[in-house]
Amino acid sequence: MKTYLVTGGAGFIGSNFVHYMLKKYNDIKIINIDKLTYAGNLENLKEIEKNPNYSFVQGDICDKETIEKIFEENEIDYLVNFAAESHVDRSIREPEVFAKTNVLGTVTLLNAAKKYWETEDGFKAGKKYLQVSTDEVYGSLGETGYFMETTPLDSHSPYSSSKAGADLMVKAYFDTFKMPVNITRCSNNYGPYQFPEKLIPLIINNCLAKKDLPVYGDGLNIRDWLYVEDHCKAIDMVINDGRLGEVYNVGGHNERTNIYIVKTIIEYVGNNIDSAVTENLIKYVEDRKGHDRRYGIDPTKIKEELGWEPETTFEVGIKKTIQWYLDNKEWMNNITSGQYQNYYEKMYGRN
Ligand code: NAD
Ligand code: TYD
Repeated sequence: MKTYLVTGGAGFIGSNFVHYMLKKYNDIKIINIDKLTYAGNLENLKEIEKNPNYSFVQGDICDKETIEKIFEENEIDYLVNFAAESHVDRSIREPEVFAKTNVLGTVTLLNAAKKYWETEDGFKAGKKYLQVSTDEVYGSLGETGYFMETTPLDSHSPYSSSKAGADLMVKAYFDTFKMPVNITRCSNNYGPYQFPEKLIPLIINNCLAKKDLPVYGDGLNIRDWLYVEDHCKAIDMVINDGRLGEVYNVGGHNERTNIYIVKTIIEYVGNNIDSAVTENLIKYVEDRKGHDRRYGIDPTKIKEELGWEPETTFEVGIKKTIQWYLDNKEWMNNITSGQYQNYYEKMYGRN
């Protein structure tokens, strides 16, 4: 029975990963450590909280004692690090916490794993540290070309620079100590349980509330969208079969402009829920500082080496996602007018 230490499992991708893994395997154990920042939400895990193969620890990945205690009490096989401050706009306002959690937190985890996994002649067999990173570490693309694993790091925002710093620390533990690691760099994820500060859930929420739909700049920035379950599948494959020390880019060639995304959501909600939701709600607002123009992943390596293919096209995934938020209005309400209301209004009360 393999034991996974998942960090940040109460956030968007982490909680989807916990669900994915417990559905797929009944012979694994998952320990989820999460600080429960504004972005961590135990409601995301309600369905599995009583699963005997799952347990939760509230704690900070920067807290060495808490992390070591988990290693002391459990034989951890895999550490999957999702925990991070993840929102670019926030990183522009408050960079320090990004450096702390994303860089120092990663180092704290690496050190703990090294302490418990290292032996006199290397590392115990079958162990792996997986760092969940982002394509944003590569910077911004022009109109052509894609990010490959060999593309030089050229991050711009405090968020992406903190993630790049973390990636380099993970690489250092492989290069220096031969610690068994992998790094995955994925494009923008979407799907259930995403905090409505990110584009897709924010636009869905504002459509339902008939609030302005803020579009930064000219709306022509491009992101490469990945359905979260396809991402979880990729992480599972990299844990099992990724070559040690390697980076794997994860993306499915789903590039769309932001304005296309906003109009797609308006069309779905307008046609199916409320005909008063129209493009009149779109409000072009001041551009994000240092706004990366285009992201696009070349996923050849993970396809050829591990056989990973995304299963969900953008057209199918976006409908499933909008419908999930429509079917789970209480989840959204608890964020926008419940426990997170003050935070949410301070950050996003643009109307
Ligand atoms: P999220 O913000 O939804 O969740 C982050 C989780 O980490 C939250 O539950 C939060 O409480 C927890 N956390 C934050 N600081 C912590 C700390 N110091 N100690 C313990 N827990 C802490 O983020 P997400 O969108 O699920 O992203 C997960 C990972 O994937 C991040 O590392 C992010 O950089 C990466 N990523 C995300 C995307 C995306 O589109 N969302 C794309 C590429 C990479
Ligand atoms: P976001 O979801 O914050 O992800 P990231 O910045 O990590 O790619 O933003 C996705 C794109 O949408 C990005 O180009 C910024 C843009 N955006 C808006 O136009 N309006 C918004 O209200 C938000 C949150 C983002």
